[in-house]
Amino acid sequence: MTDLLTTANLLAAPVATPLGEDALSALFTDARTPRVFADTPVSNDELAAIWDLAKWAPTASNLQPLRVLFVQSDEGRARLVSHMSEGNQARVASAPAVAILAVDTRFHEHAATVMPVNPALGEMLEANPEARERMGSFNGAMQAGYFILATRAQGLTAGPMGGFDAAAVDADFFPDGRLHAILVVQIGHPGENAWHGRLPRLEQETVVAWA
Ligand SMILES: Cc1cc2nc3c(=O)[nH]c(=O)nc-3n(C[C@H](O)[C@H](O)[C@H](O)COP(=O)(O)O)c2cc1C
Repeated sequence: MTDLLTTANLLAAPVATPLGEDALSALFTDARTPRVFADTPVSNDELAAIWDLAKWAPTASNLQPLRVLFVQSDEGRARLVSHMSEGNQARVASAPAVAILAVDTRFHEHAATVMPVNPALGEMLEANPEARERMGSFNGAMQAGYFILATRAQGLTAGPMGGFDAAAVDADFFPDGRLHAILVVQIGHPGENAWHGRLPRLEQETVVAWA
């Protein structure tokens, strides 16, 4: 297994070049959070393709704590809507597809699969619930961000929502207590008048320092 990290393997990595304007626009500069979705359906293949991209983005020790539940039945959608804060309910009800992103609190059970070069990692995390919790929530949030960008990269639009009763979602959709919901994401194509005005972003001077 150690040959996973050999020089030959590293040399095989492709040289990265900057993306073109169209790609930058689709991912960042013109990509928006929709207020209204078109009726255009989203297929299961399109939804699966989101994760097939998002999974490649990095996590600490490659531990990948995020789990994705696409809620597909009408009855499941109605239950999810009932757990959303009031201002979010209509949009979750009307989006073509919706995903609950959750952290697997026992993500370290997969450590031997995802980090075979460090056989002690799973046991170390089992013995350290505090580190586990920290890693799970931080890397789960990172993967949720990757999920949003991967959705955009697949030509879809993502409406992330943190406004919901997480304890109620957990009890309803993850009753064994292992998964904790962190974000609900609506997925589809933007409808008419999908955007409000673009809100300002902080300037470089506020955010970026050079030391
Ligand atoms: C983690 C997260 C939680 C969010 N929660 C909500 C929410 O509960 N309700 C809502 O209407 N929008 C929510 N949003 C959407 C943001 O307000 C929106 O993405 C942001 O204002 C940028 O909008 P823009 O992409 O159109 O520029 C959330 C976004 C993120 C990333």
